[in-house]
Amino acid sequence: MRIFSGIQPTGALHIGNYFGAIQRWVELQKGNECIYCIVDYHALTNEDTVPAELRTARRELALGLLACGIDPERSVLYVQSAVPEHTELCWILGCVASYGDLTRMTQFKQKSADQEFINSSLFYYPVLQAADILLYKADHVPVGEDQVQHLEEARRIARRFNFRFGETFPEPEPILGEGARIMSLADPERKMSKSAGPDHYIGLMEPEGSIRKKVRSAVTDVGLTPGQGMSPGVANLFSLLELVAPADVVETFRHQHRAGKLLYKDLKENLFTHLMAALRPIRERRQELEEAGRGDEILAAGAERARAIARDTMREVRARVGLD
Ligand code: TRP
Repeated sequence: MRIFSGIQPTGALHIGNYFGAIQRWVELQKGNECIYCIVDYHALTNEDTVPAELRTARRELALGLLACGIDPERSVLYVQSAVPEHTELCWILGCVASYGDLTRMTQFKQKSADQEFINSSLFYYPVLQAADILLYKADHVPVGEDQVQHLEEARRIARRFNFRFGETFPEPEPILGEGARIMSLADPERKMSKSAGPDHYIGLMEPEGSIRKKVRSAVTDVGLTPGQGMSPGVANLFSLLELVAPADVVETFRHQHRAGKLLYKDLKENLFTHLMAALRPIRERRQELEEAGRGDEILAAGAERARAIARDTMREVRARVGLD
């Protein structure tokens, strides 16, 4: 299978990214051809993205992904803007994408709500995403639930292109599920993300003291008496514990919870210890990568490999549409 996925360079990775998506990206490397892209053009649609930060965020994300186990010997890791064929294909695909479909995209509606100025690339975002995937004729795309609609749009675009110009692109299938849905520590009703502020997430590379503080102050049972069901905050701490601690440790705490004897302080202390142990190899590798200074070289080699595939696809596409 050829796998493609993209991630926006919004700064350092957090544990929600890792347990929700990146861990699966790492696993998919076994037995598949994987192409992983840092989508900096997509990041530009966010007007809060400033140039100096974008530059460092791309680099930081690349090192983070490598530290998590993306293996540049096996997989292609590169930055989208280093392969100009993405935008070239995007334009051509826009000529078969339906305007009406794009007006129905939930993410566009959410991101453009309450905004005085809406840049047009935000509207066009799903077409570029389709170009990312189709450029490599990927058959499978690991994504979160929130990207399913964009994947469906990519499938429609592939279908319309194939119908109008002849069979060219496979229709990409999403790979869903399995990844854990980690919630914010400060507001466990919402998904962990950076946009809500630093109290809401734990960065993979964050100083240990700061992680301890965040785990300790994680919201637990607002309005619920211990022993009476499980609040979203406590459920989130248990989900995290399941990811990093042995089953018997989790069971012990679950038993205490059922018996109404769970002390959140103990749960948090244990979670912190096991979480740090799980993150340690990633943090160490990140340090080594920094010292080796090979990040830029790896991305350049990745872009080279991606471009070789992209060029072939574009040659074929140009011929199909009559631009050769
Ligand atoms: N839109 C995706 C997200 O926000 C990122 C992305 C861009 C992507 N291009 C892609 C994901 C291609 C999968 C395939 O998460």
